[in-house]
Amino acid sequence: MFVDREEELKALNEKLDSNNFEFIVIYGRRRIGKTKLALKSVENREHIYYLAVEGDNLKHFKRYASKVEPTIEYAKEDWEAYFNFLKDKIIIIDEFPNLIKENPNVLSLFQRIVDIHLKNTKTKLIILGSSISMMGEKVLSYKSPLYGRKTGVLKIKPLKFKHLKEFFPKAIWEELVEIYGFADGIPYYLEKVKLPFWDYLDKEIKRVDSFLRYEVDFLMKYEFEEPTTYKKILEAIAFGNHTLGEIKNYLGFKHSDLTPYLKNLIEVEFIERQTPITESVKSKKGRYYIKDNFIAFYFRYIFPNLSAIEEGIFDIEEIKADYNQYLGFVFEKVAKEFLIELNKMNKLPFKFLKIGRWWHRGEEIDLIALNDNDKKALFVEVKWKDLKDRDVKKIYRDLYRKSKLVGLDDYEKYYAIVGKKIESKENGDCLLFDLEDFS
Ligand SMILES: Nc1ncnc2c1ncn2[C@@H]1O[C@H](COP(=O)(O)OP(=O)(O)OP(=O)(O)O)[C@@H](O)[C@H]1O
Ligand SMILES: [Mg+2]
Repeated sequence: MFVDREEELKALNEKLDSNNFEFIVIYGRRRIGKTKLALKSVENREHIYYLAVEGDNLKHFKRYASKVEPTIEYAKEDWEAYFNFLKDKIIIIDEFPNLIKENPNVLSLFQRIVDIHLKNTKTKLIILGSSISMMGEKVLSYKSPLYGRKTGVLKIKPLKFKHLKEFFPKAIWEELVEIYGFADGIPYYLEKVKLPFWDYLDKEIKRVDSFLRYEVDFLMKYEFEEPTTYKKILEAIAFGNHTLGEIKNYLGFKHSDLTPYLKNLIEVEFIERQTPITESVKSKKGRYYIKDNFIAFYFRYIFPNLSAIEEGIFDIEEIKADYNQYLGFVFEKVAKEFLIELNKMNKLPFKFLKIGRWWHRGEEIDLIALNDNDKKALFVEVKWKDLKDRDVKKIYRDLYRKSKLVGLDDYEKYYAIVGKKIESKENGDCLLFDLEDFS
């Protein structure tokens, strides 16, 4: 099964069809589908695929490459010599950071190879890496010897919520939201889940060898040397502490300065900093959110219960009892994606150019979609609940009240509610959507 990645494949195929040298960098979090994507793009093309390992890469690479280009057997054991034998070929090097770890000089070596040997050939060199910090600093940064050599960069993102349907054609949307709260759009986790979701999760947590227990440690190992404080911060955010003050409070001691930790977590994309949609990104009102649902799930349900899980006394009912509240956050992300889809298809009263959360003092609006040129605003409340008519009326009244606080006085205002299930979708005041509209 291969789901989506249409845009990525299009971009890759264009590069692979070109008559020039191409040096493409593909990166993204572990498990996101980099290898599968790269291999899909070369499915019907002759290529050399090499997965870099901890050591002896020159020797291993030669063995793989010789299957496609037997003459490479005669090459001296160094990268420069190898590439002389591989001109005009498609060469994929997966987990490139392993090459850098084995020999930091490969960066300048590859620079030299590109500049002297490959630049005027039709060679296609594709490198992949999952350590975001390493790929950022050693390959993509302007300080890297490889800076300016790449002809394309693809950062691989999770699949969209709507794509979960392809993994689970039989599941209803409600169950898909539950799964999304666990696996996000990360194919490796989606492949693990079986229906019904709660039976799967119960079994998975009870397994002595469950991937849930070590996965996040494994992810963190790629980015941080000393993860303890990072983990506490992630736990704090997973439990709904989003401001710097709240996070500090949760950690429970006067921590010198969390800013560098937060900065690093943002850099490797475990978290993101959001500001109210009506303010600039420099706004002091920044709040921190965990970027993917899998990590949020882990720090909310697994990490705090590791001992109980280890002892076999953890009861899945604990997760179930809290899950709807957790899904409140998850559903906001789903609703945002849904509105972006509607926007693309021109199915909203106006075309918005940005969308995001808003807050000020104690007030908060889940989503505001804006077109500042035409001065139009759509205010959206997202509710992971079954809504009766009277709930809808109440939510609308409150949303209307809050919309006056945002300071968009001269904007034309529209309102919407996205709920899990809405009793009757007839309402003159605002747009109403629920899971039924997702199909
Ligand atoms: N587009 C997709 N559709 C369906 N399954 C996918 C897709 N992409 C990846 N997968 C599956 O998800 C799993 C992880 O994918 P893959 O190994 O390509 O990820 P990766 O980013 O290379 O991970 P790592 O960093 O751990 O090497 C694989 O089992 C793969 O088959
Ligand atoms: Mg891979």
